[in-house]
Amino acid sequence: MSYAELRAQLGALLDGVDDPVARMATTAALLHDSLDHVFWVGFYLPRADGSLVVGPYQGPLASVVLPPGRGVCGAAAKSRETVIVPDVHAFEGHISCSPRSRSEIVVPVMRGDELIAVLDLDSDTPAAFDEDDARGLEDVVRLLSAA
Ligand code: SME
Repeated sequence: MSYAELRAQLGALLDGVDDPVARMATTAALLHDSLDHVFWVGFYLPRADGSLVVGPYQGPLASVVLPPGRGVCGAAAKSRETVIVPDVHAFEGHISCSPRSRSEIVVPVMRGDELIAVLDLDSDTPAAFDEDDARGLEDVVRLLSAA
């Protein structure tokens, strides 16, 4: 399924849903079911101390709290830019949630100037994500700040 199709499907699923947890859970489930090369999809939510706490996700058990500024999620939260990691073993400070993970992408979810979450996807395929994924996922997560 293309990202445009995913966005359209998610838009329909989230229509009339104003609960942020329900919106994130539905997004994680749709992405997990639709992207074959992705085995973990989920959200981490920023806390006042700069750490990130796990939100709705699909996939194997993952870290509950990520320390401030650490890992791929911390880098994306800090820069507020999408971070593509073709080889997780080459990313300094990568926090391993699963030995299966070979590549990863983390997309900030913004509402105006405020970071409301980061969306993290892990693949067991090396270099599974490129700029098309970044733009497509950025477009998908824009739906989350719409409610
Ligand atoms: N690898 C992430 C941690 C979260 S898990 O992959 C689900 C990171 O380095 O921030």
